[in-house]
Amino acid sequence: MGTKDRWYENATFYAIDVEAFADGDGDGVGDFEGLTDRLDYLESLGIDCVWLLPFYPSPNRDNGYDVMDYYGVDDRHGTLGDFVEFAREADRRGIRVIVDLVVNHTSDQHPWFRKAREDPDSEYRDYYVWREDLPEDPDPVRGPVFPGEEDSVWSYDEAAEAFYYHRFYHFQPDLNIANPEVREEIRKIMGFWLELGVSGFRVDAATLMIDNKGGLESTRLDDPHGVLRDMRHFVERRGDDAILFAEADDAPEHLGDYFGSTTGRQPSNAETAAELGEGDEMNVLLNFLLDAYLVLALAEREAGPIRDVLDLLPPRPEGGQWANFLRNYDELNVGRLPEDGQQKVFEAFAPDEDMRIYGRGIRRRLAPMLDGDPDRIRLAYSLLYSLPGTPLLVYGDEIGMGDDLDLPGRTAVRTPMQWSGERNAGFSTADSGELVRPVVSGGEYGYETVNVAAQRGDPDSLLQWFSRLNRLRGECPEIGTGDCEVLDVDDPAVFAHRMVSDHGRVVAVHNLDDRPTEATLDLVAEPDRLLGEAAFEQVRPDSGGTAVADGNGDADGSGAAGADAGAWRFELDRYGFCWVRVEQHV
Ligand code: GLC
Repeated sequence: MGTKDRWYENATFYAIDVEAFADGDGDGVGDFEGLTDRLDYLESLGIDCVWLLPFYPSPNRDNGYDVMDYYGVDDRHGTLGDFVEFAREADRRGIRVIVDLVVNHTSDQHPWFRKAREDPDSEYRDYYVWREDLPEDPDPVRGPVFPGEEDSVWSYDEAAEAFYYHRFYHFQPDLNIANPEVREEIRKIMGFWLELGVSGFRVDAATLMIDNKGGLESTRLDDPHGVLRDMRHFVERRGDDAILFAEADDAPEHLGDYFGSTTGRQPSNAETAAELGEGDEMNVLLNFLLDAYLVLALAEREAGPIRDVLDLLPPRPEGGQWANFLRNYDELNVGRLPEDGQQKVFEAFAPDEDMRIYGRGIRRRLAPMLDGDPDRIRLAYSLLYSLPGTPLLVYGDEIGMGDDLDLPGRTAVRTPMQWSGERNAGFSTADSGELVRPVVSGGEYGYETVNVAAQRGDPDSLLQWFSRLNRLRGECPEIGTGDCEVLDVDDPAVFAHRMVSDHGRVVAVHNLDDRPTEATLDLVAEPDRLLGEAAFEQVRPDSGGTAVADGNGDADGSGAAGADAGAWRFELDRYGFCWVRVEQHV
C-alpha cells in the first residue's frame, strides 16, 4: 500500500452498533434503514470512517459477536440490499465503512458447528477445537475471558461426546485457525465484503485467533503471525486501499508484532520506524494500553502516566497506526496497569462495586466517570485527539451520553442513541416495551436532557465542539504521522508535547487538574491557535541562548534551524488546554 493510500493514518473512526443507533422501521431495533437516514448527521459530525459492530445473522447472545452466517444481515437490521444502499450512501458522502470480522469463533448455531458436533466424520469437525477429556490442570494463561460468567474454556457437547474449546462464552466455539480450510473460509468472507465496497475489517480478538488454542499440538501454528500477514496480503490484493484494524490487547512487548515488519525485524525491539520498513500485518491497532494509562492520568490528575505509556508503546513501522480511544462498547480494561494504578482508577471512576466488571474493568461511559463536568470531558478528548495516532469515538460520546447500570454487564454502555427529547429518545417509534434496550431516561444523562437535537442548535454544546474537533484533527496530519516529543514543564499536572512532520509542527498543552496553572514553552515560531481557549503570550523574545525547539532545547533539523520565537507562557484554567500550530511547511 503506497503512502497516498494511507487514508486511515489521519481519519476519525466512529463505532456504531446498528441495533442501538436508529430504528427505521419502527420495530424497536436499530437497522440499516435508520442508519442510512442518519448519514447526514455523521457527515456534519465530520467523522471519516464508520466501524460497524457485527450486524450478521446471530442468536445475539453476545451483542452479535456470536455469528451464525458471515454472508448476511440479521433480519432485525434489514437485508443485504439495505446494507448496500447504506454503503453507497456513505460513500457518496465520503464516509468509509469498516465491518467487524469475528472469526476467532462462531456461534454454536453456525451450520459449521452444528455439522461438526453431529458428525465426527464431517469436514467441519476440524473447524473447531476438541478434546476427549478435560485437561488435568486448567491452563494458567488461557483462562476464560469473562471470569464470573464462564468458569472453563472447555464445554462438553452431548452430541459430539467431546469437549470443545471457547475462550469467550460457551456458545462461541473457537475456530481452529491452524486448519487451512478455516483460513480459506476467512479469505472468502473478507472477499465477499470487500466486493460490497467496505474499506476493511475490524479484526475481533486477533491475539486469541493466532494463539495455540487449548495448548493442543493440533492447533499449534508454525508461524502464528503468518496468519495475519496472509490476511493483509489478501486484503491488499482484493481491497484497493482497504485495511485491517485489529483488536490486539497484548502485553506491551508483543504489541508491535501485530503491525508486522517487512524487514523481518521485531517492531518491539527496533528503534525507529524507518528501520522496520513497511508494516505487513495489521494497519491499525486499537490502543488499549494508551487508554488505560490515559485514564490513570485523568484519575491522578497528573501527566506522568501519559509519559510512561508513550515510552511503553512500541514504535510503529511505516504505515502502522494506533486507534486511540477513551471508552468503547466493552468494559474499560485497566488490567495492564500496575496494581496501585488499577486501584486509583477504580477509586476515582468506579467507586461502587456495581460499576466494575471482571475484576479488571469499568462498565461506565466517560461522561458519568468525569461527573459530567463539561470542561473535564473536553480536556480528556482534546488530549486523546492530540496524541500520536488517530481517534476513535463510540456513538453517543459526542453528546456525552451516560450509561444504565441497571442493565447487566457491558450492556450498561450500549443503550440506544439519544437523538431528541421525544419519546424513546427519537431512536424508535415502537412502544417503549419493545425497544432492544431501554433508553436512558431522567436524571443528568436522560434523553430529555442529553440529545442530539438540543445540542445541534447550541454553538457551545459538546456536539458542536466535536464537529469542530473532528475537522481540526483532519487538518493536523502531524498528529497522525509525526514524531511526538514530550516537552518539559514545571507543573506535574501539565502535559505538553509537540508533533512534527513534513507538514509542520503542532504543540499542545493540557492541564489535567482543576487548579489553574501555567506553562512556559520555548517555541521556534509564533504560535497560531488551533484549539482551546488558554491565553498565551510571549514572555521572552528569544530562548536565552539555548538551542530552540518548542521547549526542550534540541533544534532538530525539521526546517526550523535558527528560528526562535522565544518563550511563551500559556495560562491554563481548570482543565484548560490549547493546541497551536508553530510552523507549517506547505
Ligand atoms: C471482542 C468484542 C467483545 C466480544 C468478544 C467476543 O472482545 O469487543 O464485545 O464479546 O470480542 O467476540
